[in-house]
Amino acid sequence: MRSCILLSLGLLGSALAQTTSVDTYVATESPIAKAGLLANIGPNGSKSSGAKAGVVIASPSTSNPNYLYTWVRDSSLVFKVLVDQYTAGTDTSLRGLIDDFVTAEATLQQVTNPSGSVDTGGLGEPKFNIDETAFTDPWGRPQRDGPALRSIAIVTYANWLLDNGNTTFVSQTLWPIIQLDLNYVANFWNQSTFDLWEEVDSSSFWTTAVQHRSLREGSSLATRIGQTSSVAFYKAQADNLLCFLQTYWNPSGHYITANTGGGRSGIDSNTVLASIHTFDPAAGCDASTFQPCSDKALSNLKVYVDSFRSIYPINNGIASNGAVATGRYPEDVYQGGNPWYLSTMAVAEQLYDALYVWDTQDSLTVTSISLPFFQLFDSAIQSGTYPSSSSAFTTLTSAIRTFADGFIAIHAKYTPSGGALAEQFTKSNGAPTSAVDLTWSYAAALTGFAARSATNVASWGAAGLTVPALSNMEQYVNYLIGLVVI
Ligand SMILES: *[C@@H]1O[C@H](CO)[C@@H](O)[C@H](O)[C@H]1NC(C)=O
Ligand SMILES: *[C@@H]1O[C@H](CO)[C@@H](O)[C@H](O)[C@H]1NC(C)=O
Ligand SMILES: *[C@@H]1O[C@H](CO)[C@@H](O)[C@H](O)[C@H]1NC(C)=O
Repeated sequence: MRSCILLSLGLLGSALAQTTSVDTYVATESPIAKAGLLANIGPNGSKSSGAKAGVVIASPSTSNPNYLYTWVRDSSLVFKVLVDQYTAGTDTSLRGLIDDFVTAEATLQQVTNPSGSVDTGGLGEPKFNIDETAFTDPWGRPQRDGPALRSIAIVTYANWLLDNGNTTFVSQTLWPIIQLDLNYVANFWNQSTFDLWEEVDSSSFWTTAVQHRSLREGSSLATRIGQTSSVAFYKAQADNLLCFLQTYWNPSGHYITANTGGGRSGIDSNTVLASIHTFDPAAGCDASTFQPCSDKALSNLKVYVDSFRSIYPINNGIASNGAVATGRYPEDVYQGGNPWYLSTMAVAEQLYDALYVWDTQDSLTVTSISLPFFQLFDSAIQSGTYPSSSSAFTTLTSAIRTFADGFIAIHAKYTPSGGALAEQFTKSNGAPTSAVDLTWSYAAALTGFAARSATNVASWGAAGLTVPALSNMEQYVNYLIGLVVI
């Protein structure tokens, strides 16, 4: 009896010690991550000389790998962080930089490149030179997530401007940029794409998920400013995307298959990133949009995390329900196939998002799909709904918060003392490797930290959606289209 009490006090003590050290890390790393991110944006960023105004470099690394280019995906994710900080009033100094970004992206949209011109598919071009000219070497193109992510970032800014009475700028300057991206998504979503890791040419869960979000948010903005001519088209394609999104679920493997091609397991950070970047607290734990607290996204998180337990030496000796370092996907060999800072942080972020919703709705539900996830924290837990007044709720949420903090503790452990974030850390000893100062690593740290303190939690319209059932006529038409393609 006595030893049991000592043991539980010991565990409680280590959880408290971890909380304190994670608090400290978040406090010290936040300003470093913000400064590291800003250093990589032209024209004045200290590590981005040569980049035009508002152009985000992926990393200052110029060899092995050379990332001194601007990717539409990375830039849009970076500016979503800055727009969220600006519109929340956290940093009111960012307006000029955001306007520079908008101008830079409007220029890039018009640059004819190997994917095409602005009217013929050029918006799917993944990367450009930092002087805003086309990158013309062979590459994995097109990548159809870029226009979706760019529109999401700019729509967030547009909604804030409308809230603050600046309709003219939204209608005259932002809408034409957003509209090009929405039209691209609506017209091309059903064609194959390279995935976000630029390797697999097929359909990709991440891309489908962010395309779906972009058309929902874009439709609402269009309606708000009276640009209604394409809204019905956008909504119809959003319904088709939501329908297609369901097909990535692997019911026997209990995870979301990242890509329809690629010949791999399909277990991939792609899916965790999609869940956090399409988080909408108003949608609760909806599984059709794979919300962070949905049973499918939690089951997926467990399968994803577990896939790295035995393949990275730095994860040796960690309990089977403890936090570990995670990478892009278990079969990865790029630059040695190591854990990534942004992938490890994404796991923490999904869990914080889930905790936020459970706290807000005062309950959590365990289903047969999410049961293995919850059993990590209470082996006796059973399916059911647990109100916040129950001891099960308290036990589970506190253990899940400790688990989430564990991923930040891993991130902290392998971040060098100056706080710089590379792309990867070596699987054998945790030393930083591959590209230095990866802008996306800094952005991911900032969104993970924001989720931990439940800030910047906005809705995008995922609440109340239902997966459309195809009518018999639509099924028949799809069948005929299939015959024609064959
Ligand atoms: C960059 O520096 C120039 C010169 O100091 C300044 O005029 C400009 O406003 C700066 N741009 C941004 C976005 O801070
Ligand atoms: C609207 O926002 C744009 C972009 O920041 C700015 O240039 C313009 O001055 C604003 N207009 C008004 C009336 O505030
Ligand atoms: C196009 O949509 C159909 C219906 O959802 C789907 O079966 C097919 O895999 C999609 N193809 C691509 C490349 O997205």
